[in-house]
Amino acid sequence: MSIKTLLNLLATPLEYGFDTLRAFKWSKASPVCPKSKQLHYDILLLAHTVEKGLSVSNPRRKFGIEKITSLLSFLECYDESWGVFPLEKSYGCLSAYVQWHKSIDFDLCELGDEINVFLKRCKSLNITPKGGVKSLSTMNHKQNAIFEQSLNDRASCRRFEPEVVSDDILERIGRIAVRTPSQCNRQSSRLHYYADKNLINKLLLAQGGAEGFRESVHNLFVITSEMSAWSGIKARSQAYVDGSLTSMQVLNACQSLGLGACPLNLAVTNFKEKEICKIGGISDGERLIMMIAFGIPEKANLQVARSERLPINHVLISH
Ligand SMILES: Cc1cc2nc3c(=O)[nH]c(=O)nc-3n(C[C@H](O)[C@H](O)[C@H](O)COP(=O)(O)O)c2cc1C
Repeated sequence: MSIKTLLNLLATPLEYGFDTLRAFKWSKASPVCPKSKQLHYDILLLAHTVEKGLSVSNPRRKFGIEKITSLLSFLECYDESWGVFPLEKSYGCLSAYVQWHKSIDFDLCELGDEINVFLKRCKSLNITPKGGVKSLSTMNHKQNAIFEQSLNDRASCRRFEPEVVSDDILERIGRIAVRTPSQCNRQSSRLHYYADKNLINKLLLAQGGAEGFRESVHNLFVITSEMSAWSGIKARSQAYVDGSLTSMQVLNACQSLGLGACPLNLAVTNFKEKEICKIGGISDGERLIMMIAFGIPEKANLQVARSERLPINHVLISH
């Protein structure tokens, strides 16, 4: 075993220690986590339990009383100056809850009165309800050969034209990225976008895995996940689960828009992570998931690494 490998091994508990300290500081359950963040995520999670409950075949009458009571108390403490999204979402979910009980002629009694106090607040704030249930047409689940082909065609691209993508393209990537599923729809992932060549250079130098094509990168994402979306020992890896799904969605978004993209690892120490956050203007409360270099693929003679895959029966194991 080399000295470097040994030192790396010995430093492992230290890095886990730093992870723990950061989790303590930023966890949703932490007393020092900003109140606005805690409430933002607490409200989103609980509001989602309402719309989830309404989406099943046979919702139970007056389901989720305890959760709705907690949701209402969180909403009371939530200041609209922190952003209206949690209010809009709860407005939609609780309106749908009331409507559904009305449609089956069921009296929600006191709970209904408490919900109405919140609904009146939303009306006075003049916000839009953004939650509940929606109908999908059968078209949503039809086979899509073009999509299938496109997923099979994706390959990491490391040769780009020297162009910054348009605002329209960037927005379309963002629109697809926000469709990524997330645990309880908490949407902890963030996409930091960079088009400044100097900044991209600094970020890629700190990342270290783009040598050989760093110069050709003119568009870069750093994907992160907000730690305050998570709390408790069971959720200790969930920032990475949600963040990785968002990353894959971004790679597929690029593919669907005719762009090339290459995921870039952020397997770094906490010290390096801090350095990257500082360069990129990213909060210390976000965990870095990966970078994605992307852009218009080189027009002539584009070559990509073959990256041969394992046989399918090695990966797909039927039980
Ligand atoms: C999390 C992650 C980190 C990666 N990091 C790097 C990197 O630092 N540099 C690089 O050139 N490619 C990187 N890659 C790209 C992989 O080499 C590539 O995805 C893999 O070989 C499969 O090839 P394909 O993407 O063309 O299908 C990374 C991929 C992933 C998923």
